[in-house]
Parts: sequence; C-alpha cells; structure tokens
Amino acid sequence: MLNSLFSSGSKIVVSAPMAGYSDSIFRRFAKKFGADLTFTEMISAEGFLRGNDKTMELLRFSGDETPIAVQFFSGVSDAIFMAAERISGMSFCVFDINMGCSVRKVMKHGAGAALLKNLDNAEKIVIAAMRAKMPVSVKIRSGFSSEDEWEQILNFLKRAEEIGISFVTLHPRTAAQKFTGKANWHLIAEVVHSLKIPVIASGDIFSIDDVAKIVELTDAAGVMLARGAISNFQLFSQTKQLFDGVNIDEIGKISLAERAETILDFVAEEVEVRGEARAIRWCRKFFIPLLAGFPGARQMRGKVSHIEKFAQLKNELFVPLMKIF
Ligand SMILES: Cc1cc2nc3c(=O)[nH]c(=O)nc-3n(C[C@H](O)[C@H](O)[C@H](O)COP(=O)(O)O)c2cc1C
Repeated sequence: MLNSLFSSGSKIVVSAPMAGYSDSIFRRFAKKFGADLTFTEMISAEGFLRGNDKTMELLRFSGDETPIAVQFFSGVSDAIFMAAERISGMSFCVFDINMGCSVRKVMKHGAGAALLKNLDNAEKIVIAAMRAKMPVSVKIRSGFSSEDEWEQILNFLKRAEEIGISFVTLHPRTAAQKFTGKANWHLIAEVVHSLKIPVIASGDIFSIDDVAKIVELTDAAGVMLARGAISNFQLFSQTKQLFDGVNIDEIGKISLAERAETILDFVAEEVEVRGEARAIRWCRKFFIPLLAGFPGARQMRGKVSHIEKFAQLKNELFVPLMKIF
C-alpha cells in the first residue's frame, strides 16, 4: 500500500495529524478532496495499551479515509513495540512516531519533542517499532531549542533510514519555536538530498502558491497540509491538480463561499456522529480561520461562541457569509 503510494511517480498530498482536528470526518473530507494519505492525531502508546476509551475512539476509521497512517507518541521503547505489534493487526498502512510535539503532558514522559534531546532513545524507539514488522515513519522537527542541533537531527534521520523507516516528515521549526517564526524549508531540501527514502514537507503551507514553492525548493516526495487545510479542504484538490500536472495558473481560485459551504457539510456530518451540541462545540474552532480577513470577522467571531444549534449556525452565520462572497 505504502510502496504503491510513493512509486506512482507523482508527488503526494497528505492530511496532517492534528490533535483536536483530524478526526474521522475531517480525514474523510480530506480524502474526498484529494488527500493521498491521511493521519490520525497523535495517540499515547501507554493509553492505547491500557485500553483507554478516549484513545480507542481515536483509532476508529472507515474505508473512505484510507490509506491511513496512525501516529503514536511514547518515550518508552517497550510501549512503542507493544503498541506497534497490536496495531500491525489493524489496517493502518504505517506506524508513525511523533518526535515533534512540545506539549508538556507529552514531553514530561520523554515523548514527542523530548526525543529530540535524547536521540539515542529516539533510535531505540525506532528500532522497537520496526520489530513489529509493519512500515514505520517518523515525524520530526529541526531541533529542540536551536537549529544548531540540526546536524545531529540529520544524522539521526540517516540512522533511522538505515534501520529501515519508510519515510520521514519534517516540520522545520524547533520545538522551542512552536509555531512562531517561519519554517526553514531549506532544511527539508537538505534531508531530501541526504536520504533515499521519501521526505514529506510540512510547515507554513497555506495556499497553492506555497505548495508550488515548497516542492520547487525542496523536491520533497509530498506535502503535508495542516493549518492551511483547516476550513479549506479545497487546498487538497488544488494540490492534487498541481501534482497531476495542471498548470498553476489554470487551477481555479477558491471562493470563501465555496469553503463555507463545504464546512457546513462537514459540520452536518459531525452533528450526525457527535450529536448537535457536542458537534457545534467541536466545530467552532474551524470557523475562526474561515472568518479571518473578513471585515466583520470580530463581530462574527463573537457570535460563534453563542451558537448552539445547526439551524442557527446555518441561518445566522453561513447564509449571510455565503451571500457576501
Ligand atoms: C492544532 C494542531 C494540532 C497538531 N497536532 C499534531 C499531532 O497530533 N501530531 C503531529 O505530529 N503534529 C501535530 N501538529 C503539527 C502539524 O501536523 C504540522 O506539522 C504543523 O502544524 C506545521 O504545518 P503548518 O505550518 O502547515 O500548520 C499539529 C498542529 C496543529 C496546528
């Protein structure tokens, strides 16, 4: 499955792991709009091994989200091995290891970005995952506190390639940067030149122009859409067209009305699965980027937090919005 994905000769577009966003319905929409590969959000290996309900919920997916990668975090190689072994019986196409999350509750257990400070343990974790005999990948940042660590990160990735990982995703910001500053795409180009396995580019891809620029600069095997795809599933279809050889000038511009209409469909599906009250609360965060840049955004944003019913959302927010654009 994974091999055919990368051997198609075309670059691929990937739907990012995003905690609190990339649920089953998000992935289905991403796929419908053109994603070649989707990701679950990060999952605790320990939580999974304990059979924690919420964790098990994160593992649920349907056929219209595939091929799908599952992402785990842990600082303990035994936990990673046991999680990967259990996962290998499910239909995920790759077991991805998170080496970038800088949230305290993840790092305090030596997982996520904490592995960037302990690359020997990161290597043990990769070896442990590989023992489970399923494809393994790594998603990583460019360093923990400074780009001075980059050389060590690159050496680690070379070792991970030798151990046998299938691909790597690089978000070239340090963990200390979180989401500030700009992603240093030049580092992606460096990994592409240094490794033989496919490299997926992540970081600051918000438009089709960004996609064109990042692939030109890095020649990565694919791009991962994250914040740029929140409330803009059409970025998947634009990217797919570009990778299928359509000239960028011929790729249709996406109106806010189109995006809004798709988000409304998305909310409707969330309502079916989560129930109205929970779904509307869950989806509120998707409306903010949709409203960004719109002159009345502040007032509209204020409205969002009071909306509780789907009909109200449609009539008070989306219908006026779609008329404007
Ligand atoms: C809300 C949010 C949640 C995220 N959750 C995860 C996650 O669970 N695992 C992970 O590896 N990266 C996670 N990321 C990082 C993204 O996958 C991506 O690498 C990063 O946002 C850079 O891409 P962007 O600048 O295009 O957003 C998350 C990012 C955001 C904004």
